[in-house]
Amino acid sequence: MPEHTKVMGKEWADARREANVARLRATLATALAGRTGITFELGCGHGHWLAAYAAAHPGEYCVGIDLITHRVERSVRKQTLGKLDNVIFLKAEATEFLEALPSQVNLAKIFILYPDPWPKKKHHKNRFISPANLALLASRASPGARLHFRTDNADYFDWTLDHLSAHPKWRVEPGNTWPFEQKTFFEERMKDRRDVFAVRAE
Ligand SMILES: C[S@@+](CC[C@H](N)C(=O)[O-])C[C@H]1O[C@@H](n2cnc3c(N)ncnc32)[C@H](O)[C@@H]1O
Repeated sequence: MPEHTKVMGKEWADARREANVARLRATLATALAGRTGITFELGCGHGHWLAAYAAAHPGEYCVGIDLITHRVERSVRKQTLGKLDNVIFLKAEATEFLEALPSQVNLAKIFILYPDPWPKKKHHKNRFISPANLALLASRASPGARLHFRTDNADYFDWTLDHLSAHPKWRVEPGNTWPFEQKTFFEERMKDRRDVFAVRAE
């Protein structure tokens, strides 16, 4: 690809990211006005898990995000049908969402269920769990906030355990039980499940 086309491509991607963050900032300023802590699901898919969790935890305010429009639309339908006033679902990319989150709002609980495992080694760089993204999550999490991660993929499980163990802002907590069971769309299709728990270090 010619150099000037690459530069144009980067400029376009940066401008698009900035526009997404600005749009999210406006949405979140209204949606989360007066709130200080949220329960956050990253990659909520069709919303099965978070809609059920919100119904069972009326004292928590929940936010689910996903990249894919039709999945978010299905999630919103669950919120509407369930008349749930303590959950919202938004189409958003996670790092853009975290950048746009109002400064007074912290992540009290984080859930990541069946994230894309990117099984081929050459694609591991696309996995959401990385030192940079763990630092970003930690920067928006309150001290003591819990991160719950579930996967069917043995290699992504080891990867996540290793990355969390090595990260100064997270402390792995072995031997916990998953706090709320509700099969997700992907879980219905998976043979296995492995959980990792961590706490945001003080
Ligand atoms: C394998 S699906 C699992 C969905 C759901 N948690 C479940 O178990 O049914 C992973 C989801 O994460 C979403 N996703 C991946 N990367 C994301 C990102 N950076 N920000 C937001 N959503 C993301 C994808 O669009 C996809 O819907």
